[in-house]
Amino acid sequence: MNERRPPAGEGLSAGPRSSDGPGDSTRAVHAGERERAHRHGDAITTPIFQTSTYTFDDSEQVRAYQEGRLPRDEYGRYGNPTWRAVERKLAALEGGDDAVLFASGMCAATTMFLALLPQGSHLVVTSDCYRRTRQFIRQYLTKLGVETTVIEPADTQKLADALRPETKLFFTESPTNPYLRVIDIAEAARVCHARGVQVVIDSTFASPVNQCALSYGADLVIHSATKYLSGHNDLLAGCAIGPAPMIGTLRDAVGVMGGILDPHAAWLLLRGLKTLGLRMARHNENGLRIARWLEAHPKVRRLWYPGLPSHPDHAIAAATMRGFGGVVTFEIDSDFDGAQRFVDAVRIPYIGPSLGGVESLIELPATMSYWDLSRDERYALGITDSLVRLSLGVEDGEDLIADLAQALERA
Ligand SMILES: Cc1ncc(COP(=O)(O)O)c(C=O)c1O
Repeated sequence: MNERRPPAGEGLSAGPRSSDGPGDSTRAVHAGERERAHRHGDAITTPIFQTSTYTFDDSEQVRAYQEGRLPRDEYGRYGNPTWRAVERKLAALEGGDDAVLFASGMCAATTMFLALLPQGSHLVVTSDCYRRTRQFIRQYLTKLGVETTVIEPADTQKLADALRPETKLFFTESPTNPYLRVIDIAEAARVCHARGVQVVIDSTFASPVNQCALSYGADLVIHSATKYLSGHNDLLAGCAIGPAPMIGTLRDAVGVMGGILDPHAAWLLLRGLKTLGLRMARHNENGLRIARWLEAHPKVRRLWYPGLPSHPDHAIAAATMRGFGGVVTFEIDSDFDGAQRFVDAVRIPYIGPSLGGVESLIELPATMSYWDLSRDERYALGITDSLVRLSLGVEDGEDLIADLAQALERA
């Protein structure tokens, strides 16, 4: 008689990351799906639960569910088994208790702010953050009487000075966009926690492969899962990962506000996540190699990549990150027209916004994210005419270098 194999996959999903636990790719492939309790019909993949509602056998079942005696789903805005597989995988990758999905990265950020900030509270954010996040803070949080202080990234003294008795959150990206500033999260958490302030990190540019912010003392991590996590430029999604009570608060909030992820997009995200370790290794390799090559090129005036000693935060990046990602920001030694000629001449990267997908993307922030600002306003934010943001995909490094070399000749 065939002996049944012992249940596989136990221990792949839970708890904080440790150096003797499973590696990134093992977690990325198996966590959240491998345990017997999470398998459906013995299929190797998790199905797409394409349903809006869930049915009950009888009134006793309804009662048991309402009283918390029967964990199950009720309605598609509150839960979905495909989501939960993704959420378990994300929690395992970031080393958090639990995770929750959202319809987009912006939805993760806006739901988080609305759920965690009381009326009349105070928020500290870094200046170098995604433009729409700053717009939400300026345009909508002010309506709730939330005041915000903006500080330069990587300045812990300014952070300490900015905290007030009513400060509830410190929010920053790390690395930031577009200058890839890297925050000393442990130091920020020390300063904030001493004053009862929570630290939320948008870790989109790092991915859990390059940095687990929770392990440095952050209270919550959010991502635009549109980027590295899904990795194929084919969906929008967001997520938050952290302690169970905080994630419970955010799960309730998204159930009320309604910015939930479609089950099919959740499944695509689940599929994309399985190759996160492999993809990040190539993004990191292309990023470091091409940043070094570009920095030495006579047509590049200045370059920002945290993996290089020229970056202002290289020391903290080298100490706290396991890789530096695929985004390289640089200024061409040319004017606006020259920068446009360069971008128009590249053949492998597509011209487009976003980052973190398998296809390389290139953009001039002046004509893309910041197109509607005057030149003076842009320059005040450090967005010059010849600034380029390059998100390196997983193509072969030598092909990308050859392509950039011929395009730089046109600048
Ligand atoms: C760092 C960062 N956070 C959040 C977002 C918003 O994410 P989404 O486009 O998925 O709404 C972006 C988008 O570019 C981003 O770059």
